[in-house]
Amino acid sequence: MGEIDILLGLQWGDEGKGKIVDALTPEYDIITRFQGGPNAGHTLEFENEKYILHTIPSGVFRENKLNIIGNGLVIDPSIFIGEIRSLKQPVSELINKIIISSKAHLILPTHRLLDAAYEEAKGEMKIGSTLKGIGPAYTDKTSRQGLRVGELLKENFRELYDIHRQRHLEILQHYKVDADLEKYEEEWFEGIELLKKFRIINTEYFINKSLDEGKRILAEGAQGTMLDIDFGSYPFVTSSNTISGGACSGLGISPKRIGSVFGIFKAYCTRVGEGPFPTELSNDTGQKLRENGYEFGSTTGRPRRCGWLDLPALKYSCMINGVTSLFLTKADVLTGFDKIKICTGYKINNSIVEELPFDISSEVEPVYIEMNGWKENITGIRQYQKLPEAFRNYIDFIERETGLPVVIISVGADRTQTIMRDE
Ligand code: GDP
Ligand code: IMO
Ligand code: MG
Repeated sequence: MGEIDILLGLQWGDEGKGKIVDALTPEYDIITRFQGGPNAGHTLEFENEKYILHTIPSGVFRENKLNIIGNGLVIDPSIFIGEIRSLKQPVSELINKIIISSKAHLILPTHRLLDAAYEEAKGEMKIGSTLKGIGPAYTDKTSRQGLRVGELLKENFRELYDIHRQRHLEILQHYKVDADLEKYEEEWFEGIELLKKFRIINTEYFINKSLDEGKRILAEGAQGTMLDIDFGSYPFVTSSNTISGGACSGLGISPKRIGSVFGIFKAYCTRVGEGPFPTELSNDTGQKLRENGYEFGSTTGRPRRCGWLDLPALKYSCMINGVTSLFLTKADVLTGFDKIKICTGYKINNSIVEELPFDISSEVEPVYIEMNGWKENITGIRQYQKLPEAFRNYIDFIERETGLPVVIISVGADRTQTIMRDE
């Protein structure tokens, strides 16, 4: 019986999932997304080109690979159409590479308006949402009022759409909204026509049959564990289960099917949007991390908040996901710092704890250990043993603390800047 491996983010998103999924795709037959939607921005770089994917799995640039958009996603047709165009591949080829679940939910133009209206109404308590309509679309799904992709093949689709639109407009009457709904709708219906060209099927059958046939499948997470609806820093989270368990419900596979769980994390931490971030550096060091790592949102362009690596959060994520091995990214960004800090615990009311408290608010003071930095440029290194000793000490420390091996190290944004540690 074939197994499905899962690659997911252990922090607040943007760990470099897209880059690593692309690098690993040659080892798999199928790449599939299981949750989230266009709030995700997964960057891939190769042959001096850069691409950002939102809904489409990161295996789409490799030959003879299937990419499945699972039932756990919310899809915005108007964003999907832009994404398809940006791939610079003919639609006639892409329809053979991408399959969409009939059970995925649609993000309507009015979901976007609702997202903006709810955020505005929250004032200082706003989440810092990407405003892609994610929250309202998942809300409709769980309140059993959603519109699913399978619906668009029905003759009365327009009627169904109008019912949802009307219901949303009635809610929106209570809010101030300033947006061009007709323009959104024009792009959206154009996207619907494009979606119709793709295979829209019950992907749960397809995935399970493929596993029975021994096909190798990689599930690509979006966002990160600290943004999970249940285990993230609620309410400053996204609206889906970003954790390994989410792959079961977001694809229709049994937990028995799960093979390896690859946990990906940056050598430091970033967060985009609002919410607690214990190791955040609002100083020159934070600024230097942002500049060296070019930390600006792939979806919204917002500057990402930066800080040191947070071990209690990392260990928590490893536990929740059942991580079997670790992938470390953006190691090159730490080059040039004299000293590098790692948070090993939190000081709360004068006692030091290593567990994440119920509420990680500003009362939490990180406790750090300090390690020596390195000056060597590591972006051209492809062998683990050639990495500076100080950096290998950094990795050793993380391995000892988490009890997990760091098996992939990323030293740059390009596909080739990847060290696979197989000793
Ligand atoms: P994702 O959402 O997890 O796929 O990550 P994003 O694409 O949003 O953000 C990661 C950013 O870092 C992108 O701009 C990548 O091109 C870039 N990146 C990925 N890995 C590395 C790395 O090892 N070093 C550097 N310098 N950049 C990287
Ligand atoms: P990838 O897959 C980083 C953040 C938003 C906001 C919160 C809720 O690229 O790692 P939402 O739009 O879901 O209502 O926003 O979650 N967020 C992300 N942050 N990377 C992402 O995706 C994110 N997707 C959502 O900034 O704080
Ligand atoms: Mg991203």
